[in-house]
Amino acid sequence: MTSLADQLSAALGDAFTAMGLDAKLGRVSESDRPDLAPYQCNGALAAAKQAGKPPRVIAQGVADHLASVMPDLAVEIAGPGFLNLTPAPAMYTGQVNALAGDERAGAGRVDVPRKVMIDFGGPNVAKPMHVGHLRSSVIGDSLQRLLRFLGHEVTSDIHLGDWGLQMGQLITELEDEQPDLPYFDEAFAGPYPDVAPVTIEDLARLYPQASAKGKEDPARQERSRKATAELQAGRPGYRALLRHFINVSIAALKEDFSALGVHFDLWKGESDVNDLIPAMVEDFKARGVAEESEGAWIVRVALEDDKKELAPLILVSSQGSALYATTDLATILDRRESVNPDLILYVVDLGQSDHFEQVFRAAVKAGLAGEGGLEHVKFGTVNGPDGKRLRTRAGGTFRLADLIEEARERARARLAEAGLGESLDAASLEDVARKVANAAIKFADLQNYRTTNYIFEMDRFVSFEGRTGPYLLYQAVRIKSLMRKAAGEGLEPGAIIVSVPEEAALVRRLDGFHGALMRAHDDRAPNHVCEHVFGLAQAFSSFYAVCPILPEKDEAVRRSRLGLAALTLRQLELGLSLIGLETPEQM
Ligand code: ARG
Repeated sequence: MTSLADQLSAALGDAFTAMGLDAKLGRVSESDRPDLAPYQCNGALAAAKQAGKPPRVIAQGVADHLASVMPDLAVEIAGPGFLNLTPAPAMYTGQVNALAGDERAGAGRVDVPRKVMIDFGGPNVAKPMHVGHLRSSVIGDSLQRLLRFLGHEVTSDIHLGDWGLQMGQLITELEDEQPDLPYFDEAFAGPYPDVAPVTIEDLARLYPQASAKGKEDPARQERSRKATAELQAGRPGYRALLRHFINVSIAALKEDFSALGVHFDLWKGESDVNDLIPAMVEDFKARGVAEESEGAWIVRVALEDDKKELAPLILVSSQGSALYATTDLATILDRRESVNPDLILYVVDLGQSDHFEQVFRAAVKAGLAGEGGLEHVKFGTVNGPDGKRLRTRAGGTFRLADLIEEARERARARLAEAGLGESLDAASLEDVARKVANAAIKFADLQNYRTTNYIFEMDRFVSFEGRTGPYLLYQAVRIKSLMRKAAGEGLEPGAIIVSVPEEAALVRRLDGFHGALMRAHDDRAPNHVCEHVFGLAQAFSSFYAVCPILPEKDEAVRRSRLGLAALTLRQLELGLSLIGLETPEQM
């Protein structure tokens, strides 16, 4: 479907072409003076030089052309030669009925669908998730929904951090607690038990213990480092333990993420590519991609015109171990062999910018990826009221699970205030609380452009008023309840006839859906979708305030308004689903 703005751009483009000028000059956008006209075109001013004519003369030429091809469009020439464009109600009527008849409520698809992998979430085994992982999960999930909806073939991968020192720390700590387990006995010939020796609570306890001990005692840290090296070298008991740690973590993570409504196609991790590393390193050495430097193997990635110097990527440390960048390179290799994506998006905080720049340049240098085939989708931090990175009261890292529980607690309280407990059973009420809490957290995050840092204010996020997720759910719920009531009275939506300005304004919002989705797609930035759904909800409110629906006596008018409400609800829910929000039936 072509939006009204695009139809106008095409018509004005023809008008400019007819005068021997560039069609691009005809670009029409929504006006920044909506009090004068809803659409505008400034092309006549830009054309004046090229044409050697005063802008008002050019504008008049465009207006004359339009008068013959688009009689329903009022054209006014303002100031030095601005074109103010006001479609007649008939144009809105035609457009909105086309939107209503479109099963995607106006959303198109990308011209060139691609195979896209999205690497997001990235929690670390045994370490609690923090708000940085939350941002990655919320932004990444929205991007996967959006890109898929727009026609790309998307594969998402959580890319667990399961290969660092923390694994060795867990191993040594468990050995201290339960030295008799077979995993520590080098003479044990297997098979190792199928049942995990630890629960997720054990892991949550073991890691901080080991980490604290390591900080105090260098010998202890050295033991963990050695265990990590032995694990990476393939010691069978440690490998078997690693598998248990990963499985136990994944089971717990799956629960957390599913409560948040976030899904991954692949649950792979750093450890999955370990076996690819030796051959990859040899290949890099053989082809001269990597070079030796002070006992380590590095890939030089700095470029002449870099503004700030980029350190070489360390492929193999001087102690002989593979590092974070090494596993990322091997993961690109693995993805190429399994999925062969055209593009990989890494939704990771901007603190890791240098890391990704190094990895991307090294990957291109080694021929693992093409130029532009790897993108770092960066995001900023979540801050506390003091403007610094969000911390718990005790000063520790904020845990994702605590944050979600806090949001639910507030949502429950808010729903109790609204008296919802009287009409719903406990399980349904909890389901609504979950949807409201998720909406609060997700919308608060996604409404900002991703690199913007924001301050975490739970009270504001869960409010039913203002620019919040719960406000949007509430608007959708209001329309749902209106539709139910209408259906109960046997009233059905009909053809839409646009007559009042509030209806035209709502149609313009509805008509902007595809453009908003494409902006979000192009910038990898869901805030454009947030902007759209919020504007839509507001436009609906303004319309509903002047156009009552059920009490309307004129049947055609009532059915038209009901049709507009039905279309709004459909597009609103669709837009909300693309940012990961689920609408309850009541709230
Ligand atoms: N586990 C990492 C962390 O917690 C994030 C992983 C991001 N993805 C990647 N391919 N490096 O910081």
